[in-house]
Amino acid sequence: MALTPHRYAANEPPISWVRRFADRIPTGGTVLDVACGAARHGRFFHARGHPVVLLDVDITRITDMASLDGVEIVARDLETGRPWPLSQQAFAGVVVVNYLHRPVMPDIVAAVAPGGVLIYETFAIGNEAFGRPANPDHLLRHEELLVAVRPELRVIAFEDLEEREPHPAVKQRIVAVRD
Ligand SMILES: C[S@@+](CC[C@H](N)C(=O)[O-])C[C@H]1O[C@@H](n2cnc3c(N)ncnc32)[C@H](O)[C@@H]1O
Repeated sequence: MALTPHRYAANEPPISWVRRFADRIPTGGTVLDVACGAARHGRFFHARGHPVVLLDVDITRITDMASLDGVEIVARDLETGRPWPLSQQAFAGVVVVNYLHRPVMPDIVAAVAPGGVLIYETFAIGNEAFGRPANPDHLLRHEELLVAVRPELRVIAFEDLEEREPHPAVKQRIVAVRD
């Protein structure tokens, strides 16, 4: 039986890595939530007074956000080879959680404005022992986020580890700033 990928609900709390470093994003600056899903992170930052840009191939779970002030929704498949849809824009915060498509990694790094912050967490190699994602295309290699952001951004926090809670998984996570 095929496993159904977990779909994070809008009312699920933001991950602790995002909560821990949210204050690093300049007050009132626009936050881009890449592959936002139901936008649990975009909603979190919007509630904190940040304008947000919500980007996903599937925007059906954020239609309730469309009419709100300070919300821009970008419906785009990032994996078609088309140019990054936000190339003229840089953001005070760029948040990516549980998404990896290597060709857009340079665009994600470039989207961080001077003084801005990248907060990124997703699954890493070794996670296949615990379940999905197990496809190496969707699993970061050791230290891959470090390599991806340097030297453009300065790393202020990084983890690359197996964890037991809330579920057994291998995760990599980074916070990096553009000085
Ligand atoms: C595991 S969910 C994570 C959602 C959200 N970041 C969170 O943590 O709650 C992965 C998200 O990536 C989006 N996604 C998958 N393929 C995509 C693509 N080609 N272009 C843009 N978004 C995509 C999915 O629609 C889904 O919302």
